[in-house]
Amino acid sequence: MCGIVGFVGEKEDALPFIFNGLKRLEYRGYDSAGIALASKSGIAIQKTQGKLAALGELLEALPSGIPCGIGHTRWATHGRPTNENAHPHTDCQGEIATVHNGIIENFQTLREELIAKGHRFQSDTDTEVIPHLLEEYGGAEDLVGAVRQAETRLQGAYAFLAISSRDPERIVAVRRTSPLIIGLGTNANYLGSDFSAFLAATKRAQILENGDMAVVTPHSVVITDKAGSRIDRPVITVDWDIKQAERGGYPHFMLKEIMEQPDVWGDCLLGRIRDNEVVPQEIGLTWDQLAEYQRIQIVAAGTAYHAGLIGKALIERLARIPVNVDVASEFRYASPILDRGTMVMAISQSGETADTLACLRLAREQGVFTYSITNTVGSTVARESDAVAYTLAGPEIAVASTKAYTTQILVLSLLALLLARIKGRARPDLVQGMLQLPFLGHKVLKGIDGITTMAERMAGTHDVFYIGRGLDYALAMEGQLKIKEISYLHAEAYPAGELKHGTLALIKEGVPVVAILTEHDVWEKTVSNILEVKARGAEVWGIVDERFPATLPIDHYIPIPIGDTLLAPVLAAIPLQLLAYYTAVARGEDVDQPRNLAKSVTVE
Ligand code: M6R
Repeated sequence: MCGIVGFVGEKEDALPFIFNGLKRLEYRGYDSAGIALASKSGIAIQKTQGKLAALGELLEALPSGIPCGIGHTRWATHGRPTNENAHPHTDCQGEIATVHNGIIENFQTLREELIAKGHRFQSDTDTEVIPHLLEEYGGAEDLVGAVRQAETRLQGAYAFLAISSRDPERIVAVRRTSPLIIGLGTNANYLGSDFSAFLAATKRAQILENGDMAVVTPHSVVITDKAGSRIDRPVITVDWDIKQAERGGYPHFMLKEIMEQPDVWGDCLLGRIRDNEVVPQEIGLTWDQLAEYQRIQIVAAGTAYHAGLIGKALIERLARIPVNVDVASEFRYASPILDRGTMVMAISQSGETADTLACLRLAREQGVFTYSITNTVGSTVARESDAVAYTLAGPEIAVASTKAYTTQILVLSLLALLLARIKGRARPDLVQGMLQLPFLGHKVLKGIDGITTMAERMAGTHDVFYIGRGLDYALAMEGQLKIKEISYLHAEAYPAGELKHGTLALIKEGVPVVAILTEHDVWEKTVSNILEVKARGAEVWGIVDERFPATLPIDHYIPIPIGDTLLAPVLAAIPLQLLAYYTAVARGEDVDQPRNLAKSVTVE
C-alpha cells in the first residue's frame, strides 16, 4: 500500500499542495517519498528514502510556481526502500513521470521486453515498467493514447498517475483495483489515494471505479472506461474532517485495519495462485528449497507466534512435515538443537522485533537455512534471511495486530499447500478455496451485528476465558491477547479439553467464556466442554461455523461462513478482533495506542 497525490491547476503552485497531501497519506507507507513537477522546461524530481521529513529537506531544490505535479509515499513491495526505488519513476528521456500504488504482476516479462528494446532501468521496482512502456507508445507527445495502450499490457492490481513535460497541463490517472479519487476544485483539480489527500482544499470528489481512466486538467475531468467510452461517476460531497479521512472515515486505525482485511487478503494472494496451483517463487522459495527440509522451526512473538501455531497445524496436517513453534524470547536462550535438515522460519510484522531477529541470527550462525514472513520490505528480518515472503498487508498502524496476523496465516497456508503438493498430497480444492476467502471475509463483516452487544457485556466483566480445540485453540490464544492488550481485561485461553484439569475452578456464575467452534472433527467434544462450563454458570459466547446446528448450548453466537475447516482461521479471526475492539471502545480505552505497548519491540 502506497499513497499517491496529484495536482493540476491554472496558476497555483502544485508543490505545497502535493507535499501536504503526502503528509496526510503517510500512514499508507513511509519508507521513501518523492515529487515530480511537469513544465515545458522538463520534469523536475526530488525523491529520497526515509520518511517525508527527509523529502521536505529537498524541496528547495524544486522550481516554484509549477502548477502540475505528482507525489508518492511508499510502502515497499518490489525492491528495497532506497533512493533509486523511490517514486516517481521516469522514462529514458526524463519526459514522463509516474507514481504507482499496487503491484504490476507481469513486470518481469515487460521489463525484459523493454530492456531488449533499449530501455534503461534505474530501479528494482515493478513500477518502472510503466514510464518505459509509455515512452515506447509515444507517451511524451500523446500521454492519453500511450496510457490507453500501456493499460492493455499491464496485469495486476494498481492505480497510477502519469505526467509529461510536453503536455504539462494534464494528469492521466488509471485505477485497476487500488483506490484513486479525484478532488474537484476551482481552477484546479486534485488526485489522491484517499480523500485526506485533498480534503483541506475541496470536499467535492469523484471516486474512480475499477478499469476507469481519467484525464484531469485544471478545468476538466474526463473519465473513460477501458474501451475509451466516456462514463460519468457521481460527484459526492465528503463530510469528514481531516483526521477521520486519514483513517478512511473510521474512528480508529484498528477498526479500519480490521474492516479492510478482505481486500488486503486479495492483495496478499494476488499472483500467488496460478492455474489452481501455488507459485513457489511468489512466496520466496524454490522447489529445491521446499523439498530439502524435513523439519520446520518457527520463531515469533505475540500475535505472530499465534499465526505460527496455525501454520504448524496446517503444515503438519496437510504435508505431514513436523513443525515446532517457539516464542522467540524463549527460543533464543534455550540452546536449541538445530540441524541442516531444519528450516528456521521467523514471522514478524515489523521485521524488527529484537527477540525474533536474535533467533534468526542464532540459526544463521549454525549454518541453518532461514526463511521469514514479514510485512516490511527492507526490514532487518527480511534482509538477514536466506529467503523471504511478504504479507503485503500495507502499513499496520494500530498497535494491536489484525491484518498482519491474517495475512501471515494466508502465507503460511500457501506454504502448507505447496509442501503438501511436494509430498504428493496436493489439495487443489483448498487452493481454490483460498481464492474465495476475500469474498467470505466480506460476508463475515456483514454478519457481525451481535458483536457490539457482546462487547458491551464483556466491558463490564473482569475475567474472560477463550476455549477451543486444534486450530480453534490457536485462535483462542489470539482472541485473548487482543482483549488483554486493548481493553485491559484479564483473559485466558485454554484448550477446551484442558479446563477440567484446573481452570474449571475459576468458572462461576456469569463468567464469560468465548468458545470457538470451526473444527469439524472434534466439535462434539468441544460441545461437551461448553456444557461443563455452562453447568457452572458460565455465559457462553460462540464463534461458530454456520453449518453447526442452531441448537448448540451457546448463549449468544456469531455464525461464520467457512468453506473448509483448514481455511477458517482468517474468517474466525474477524469476530475475535471486533469483540476486542468494541470492548475497548465500550471501556473508553485508547484503542490504537494501548498503555505500556509499542508497535515494534526492538529491545529484549
Ligand atoms: O512485529 P512483530 O510481528 O514481530 O511483533 C510481534 C509482537 O510484538 C506483536 O505481534 C504484538 O504481540 C502485537 N501488539 C499484538 O497485537
